[in-house]
Amino acid sequence: MSEKSWTEIDRTIGRLFASDPAAAAALEASEAAGLPAIELAPGHAKFLMLLALIRDAKRILEIGTLGGYSTIWMARALPVDGRLISLEASEEHARVARGNIERAGLSKVAEVRVGKALDWLPRLAEEGAGPFDLVFIDADKENNPAYFDWALKLSRRGSAIVVDNVVRHGAQDTTTHSGNVRSFMELVAKDPRVSATVIQTVSIKGHDGFALAVVTGEE
Ligand SMILES: C[S@@+](CC[C@H](N)C(=O)[O-])C[C@H]1O[C@@H](n2cnc3c(N)ncnc32)[C@H](O)[C@@H]1O
Repeated sequence: MSEKSWTEIDRTIGRLFASDPAAAAALEASEAAGLPAIELAPGHAKFLMLLALIRDAKRILEIGTLGGYSTIWMARALPVDGRLISLEASEEHARVARGNIERAGLSKVAEVRVGKALDWLPRLAEEGAGPFDLVFIDADKENNPAYFDWALKLSRRGSAIVVDNVVRHGAQDTTTHSGNVRSFMELVAKDPRVSATVIQTVSIKGHDGFALAVVTGEE
Protein backbone atom coordinates (compact mmCIF):
# COMPACT_ATOMS: atom_id res chain seq x y z
CA MET A 1 0.00 0.00 0.00
CA SER A 2 1.37 3.41 -0.92
CA GLU A 3 1.89 6.32 1.48
CA LYS A 4 -0.78 8.22 -0.50
CA SER A 5 -3.39 5.51 0.18
CA TRP A 6 -2.75 5.21 3.90
CA THR A 7 -2.75 9.00 4.23
CA GLU A 8 -6.18 9.13 2.58
CA ILE A 9 -7.48 6.30 4.75
CA ASP A 10 -6.14 8.03 7.86
CA ARG A 11 -7.94 11.24 6.91
CA THR A 12 -11.17 9.22 6.61
CA ILE A 13 -10.51 7.61 10.02
CA GLY A 14 -9.95 11.04 11.53
CA ARG A 15 -13.11 12.44 9.96
CA LEU A 16 -15.30 9.50 11.00
CA PHE A 17 -13.94 8.69 14.44
CA ALA A 18 -12.02 11.67 15.75
CA SER A 19 -13.66 14.92 14.72
CA ASP A 20 -13.97 16.86 17.94
CA PRO A 21 -14.61 20.59 17.30
CA ALA A 22 -12.57 21.72 20.32
CA ALA A 23 -9.64 19.51 19.34
CA ALA A 24 -9.87 20.85 15.76
CA ALA A 25 -9.97 24.41 17.10
CA ALA A 26 -6.89 23.64 19.22
CA LEU A 27 -5.02 22.58 16.10
CA GLU A 28 -6.03 25.78 14.30
CA ALA A 29 -4.95 27.95 17.23
CA SER A 30 -1.67 26.03 17.53
CA GLU A 31 -0.95 26.50 13.83
CA ALA A 32 -1.83 30.21 14.05
CA ALA A 33 0.59 30.55 16.97
CA GLY A 34 3.35 28.95 14.88
CA LEU A 35 3.64 25.70 16.85
CA PRO A 36 5.07 22.75 14.92
CA ALA A 37 2.50 20.23 13.63
CA ILE A 38 3.95 17.32 15.59
CA GLU A 39 0.83 16.37 17.51
CA LEU A 40 -0.71 12.91 17.31
CA ALA A 41 -2.80 11.91 14.31
CA PRO A 42 -6.51 12.27 15.21
CA GLY A 43 -7.22 8.53 15.24
CA HIS A 44 -4.28 7.96 17.60
CA ALA A 45 -5.40 10.74 19.95
CA LYS A 46 -8.84 9.11 20.01
CA PHE A 47 -7.14 5.80 20.79
CA LEU A 48 -5.60 7.37 23.91
CA MET A 49 -9.02 8.60 24.94
CA LEU A 50 -10.43 5.09 24.51
CA LEU A 51 -7.56 3.67 26.53
CA ALA A 52 -8.39 6.09 29.34
CA LEU A 53 -12.03 4.98 29.14
CA ILE A 54 -11.11 1.28 29.16
CA ARG A 55 -8.92 1.90 32.19
CA ASP A 56 -11.67 4.03 33.82
CA ALA A 57 -8.86 6.56 34.38
CA LYS A 58 -9.22 9.15 37.12
CA ARG A 59 -5.67 10.46 36.92
CA ILE A 60 -3.65 10.96 33.77
CA LEU A 61 -0.09 12.20 33.34
CA GLU A 62 1.22 13.53 30.04
CA ILE A 63 4.85 14.37 29.30
CA GLY A 64 4.99 16.75 26.31
CA THR A 65 1.92 18.99 25.85
CA LEU A 66 2.65 21.04 22.70
CA GLY A 67 -0.67 22.85 22.00
CA GLY A 68 -2.74 20.47 24.14
CA TYR A 69 -4.23 18.38 21.33
CA SER A 70 -3.62 14.97 22.91
CA THR A 71 -4.30 16.57 26.31
CA ILE A 72 -7.81 17.54 25.20
CA TRP A 73 -8.56 14.07 23.86
CA MET A 74 -7.41 12.31 27.03
CA ALA A 75 -9.10 14.84 29.33
CA ARG A 76 -12.39 14.11 27.50
CA ALA A 77 -12.33 10.64 29.10
CA LEU A 78 -12.06 11.94 32.67
CA PRO A 79 -14.93 12.18 35.14
CA VAL A 80 -15.65 15.62 36.66
CA ASP A 81 -13.42 14.80 39.65
CA GLY A 82 -10.66 13.45 37.40
CA ARG A 83 -7.31 15.13 36.89
CA LEU A 84 -4.81 15.38 34.08
CA ILE A 85 -1.39 16.93 34.55
CA SER A 86 0.61 17.71 31.42
CA LEU A 87 4.28 18.72 31.56
CA GLU A 88 5.69 21.11 28.95
CA ALA A 89 9.16 22.65 28.74
CA SER A 90 8.23 25.54 26.44
CA GLU A 91 6.42 28.53 27.95
CA GLU A 92 4.98 29.42 24.57
CA HIS A 93 3.61 25.91 23.94
CA ALA A 94 2.13 25.88 27.46
CA ARG A 95 0.50 29.27 26.90
CA VAL A 96 -1.15 28.10 23.67
CA ALA A 97 -2.17 24.78 25.28
CA ARG A 98 -3.78 26.49 28.27
CA GLY A 99 -5.88 28.65 25.93
CA ASN A 100 -6.92 25.58 23.95
CA ILE A 101 -7.80 23.62 27.10
CA GLU A 102 -9.80 26.57 28.43
CA ARG A 103 -11.75 26.92 25.17
CA ALA A 104 -12.42 23.16 25.22
CA GLY A 105 -14.04 23.64 28.64
CA LEU A 106 -11.53 21.29 30.26
CA SER A 107 -9.49 23.57 32.52
CA LYS A 108 -11.16 22.17 35.65
CA VAL A 109 -9.68 18.73 34.98
CA ALA A 110 -6.56 19.44 32.90
CA GLU A 111 -3.58 21.59 33.86
CA VAL A 112 -0.27 22.33 32.19
CA ARG A 113 2.89 22.72 34.24
CA VAL A 114 5.76 24.56 32.60
CA GLY A 115 9.30 23.33 32.97
CA LYS A 116 11.46 20.36 32.14
CA ALA A 117 9.65 17.12 32.86
CA LEU A 118 12.61 15.72 34.77
CA ASP A 119 12.35 18.65 37.19
CA TRP A 120 8.60 18.17 37.61
CA LEU A 121 8.40 14.41 38.03
CA PRO A 122 10.08 14.24 41.47
CA ARG A 123 7.88 17.16 42.56
CA LEU A 124 4.75 15.29 41.47
CA ALA A 125 5.91 12.33 43.57
CA GLU A 126 6.50 14.63 46.57
CA GLU A 127 3.07 16.20 46.30
CA GLY A 128 1.40 12.78 45.99
CA ALA A 129 -0.12 13.58 42.60
CA GLY A 130 -0.17 9.90 41.57
CA PRO A 131 -0.79 7.13 41.15
CA PHE A 132 -1.72 7.79 37.55
CA ASP A 133 -3.92 5.32 35.66
CA LEU A 134 -2.56 6.40 32.28
CA VAL A 135 0.77 8.01 31.41
CA PHE A 136 1.47 9.32 27.92
CA ILE A 137 5.13 10.03 27.15
CA ASP A 138 5.64 12.27 24.10
CA ALA A 139 8.47 14.76 24.72
CA ASP A 140 12.23 14.67 24.07
CA LYS A 141 13.02 11.08 23.14
CA GLU A 142 16.49 11.02 24.74
CA ASN A 143 14.92 11.09 28.18
CA ASN A 144 12.44 8.28 27.52
CA PRO A 145 14.23 5.79 29.81
CA ALA A 146 14.07 8.27 32.71
CA TYR A 147 10.44 9.20 31.90
CA PHE A 148 9.50 5.52 31.77
CA ASP A 149 11.10 4.94 35.15
CA TRP A 150 9.22 7.88 36.64
CA ALA A 151 6.00 6.72 35.02
CA LEU A 152 6.42 3.41 36.84
CA LYS A 153 7.12 5.17 40.15
CA LEU A 154 3.95 7.22 39.70
CA SER A 155 1.75 4.29 38.61
CA ARG A 156 0.10 1.27 40.15
CA ARG A 157 -0.80 -2.25 39.06
CA GLY A 158 -2.98 -1.99 35.95
CA SER A 159 -1.78 1.48 34.93
CA ALA A 160 -1.10 1.93 31.22
CA ILE A 161 2.00 3.71 29.92
CA VAL A 162 2.12 4.79 26.26
CA VAL A 163 5.35 6.01 24.67
CA ASP A 164 5.05 7.62 21.25
CA ASN A 165 7.45 7.58 18.29
CA VAL A 166 9.36 4.46 19.17
CA VAL A 167 9.59 3.47 15.51
CA ARG A 168 10.11 6.75 13.69
CA HIS A 169 12.96 7.72 15.97
CA GLY A 170 14.12 4.14 16.37
CA ALA A 171 14.55 1.38 13.88
CA GLN A 172 13.80 3.58 10.86
CA ASP A 173 15.81 6.57 11.91
CA THR A 174 19.41 7.27 11.12
CA THR A 175 19.70 10.26 13.43
CA THR A 176 21.47 10.26 16.76
CA HIS A 177 18.14 9.36 18.43
CA SER A 178 18.31 5.94 16.81
CA GLY A 179 20.51 4.07 19.27
CA ASN A 180 18.80 5.66 22.26
CA VAL A 181 15.33 4.70 21.23
CA ARG A 182 16.15 1.20 20.08
CA SER A 183 17.81 0.53 23.41
CA PHE A 184 14.72 2.05 25.03
CA MET A 185 12.58 -0.60 23.32
CA GLU A 186 14.92 -3.28 24.66
CA LEU A 187 14.71 -1.75 28.12
CA VAL A 188 10.89 -1.86 28.11
CA ALA A 189 10.82 -5.37 26.63
CA LYS A 190 12.83 -6.81 29.49
CA ASP A 191 11.38 -4.75 32.36
CA PRO A 192 9.81 -7.27 34.77
CA ARG A 193 7.39 -4.68 36.16
CA VAL A 194 5.39 -4.40 32.92
CA SER A 195 3.84 -6.44 30.16
CA ALA A 196 4.39 -4.48 26.95
CA THR A 197 4.34 -4.41 23.19
CA VAL A 198 5.08 -2.02 20.34
CA ILE A 199 2.44 -1.31 17.70
CA GLN A 200 3.66 -0.03 14.35
CA THR A 201 1.40 2.55 12.75
CA VAL A 202 0.85 4.37 9.48
CA SER A 203 -1.03 7.64 9.56
CA ILE A 204 -1.01 11.18 8.17
CA LYS A 205 2.24 11.44 10.18
CA GLY A 206 3.88 8.61 8.23
CA HIS A 207 5.28 5.32 9.49
CA ASP A 208 5.78 5.22 13.22
CA GLY A 209 4.80 3.27 16.30
CA PHE A 210 4.09 3.45 19.99
CA ALA A 211 4.91 1.30 22.99
CA LEU A 212 2.10 0.25 25.32
CA ALA A 213 3.10 -1.10 28.71
CA VAL A 214 0.72 -2.25 31.43
CA VAL A 215 2.07 -2.27 34.97
CA THR A 216 1.88 -5.82 36.29
CA GLY A 217 3.66 -5.37 39.63
CA GLU A 218 3.53 -2.81 42.43
CA GLU A 219 6.39 -0.28 42.51
C1 LIG B 1 5.63 15.82 20.10
S1 LIG B 1 5.29 17.25 21.05
C2 LIG B 1 3.89 16.74 22.03
C3 LIG B 1 2.66 16.52 21.22
C4 LIG B 1 1.39 16.35 22.04
N1 LIG B 1 1.53 15.24 22.97
C5 LIG B 1 0.20 16.07 21.12
O1 LIG B 1 0.12 14.97 20.56
O2 LIG B 1 -0.64 16.97 20.95
C6 LIG B 1 6.58 17.29 22.22
C7 LIG B 1 6.51 18.39 23.23
O3 LIG B 1 7.42 18.08 24.28
C8 LIG B 1 7.99 19.27 24.73
N2 LIG B 1 9.27 18.95 25.42
C9 LIG B 1 10.49 18.74 24.86
N3 LIG B 1 11.39 18.48 25.82
C10 LIG B 1 10.73 18.53 26.99
C11 LIG B 1 11.11 18.35 28.35
N4 LIG B 1 12.40 18.08 28.67
N5 LIG B 1 10.18 18.48 29.31
C12 LIG B 1 8.88 18.76 28.98
N6 LIG B 1 8.46 18.93 27.72
C13 LIG B 1 9.37 18.82 26.74
C14 LIG B 1 8.18 20.10 23.47
O4 LIG B 1 8.31 21.48 23.77
C15 LIG B 1 6.90 19.75 22.70
O5 LIG B 1 5.91 20.71 22.98
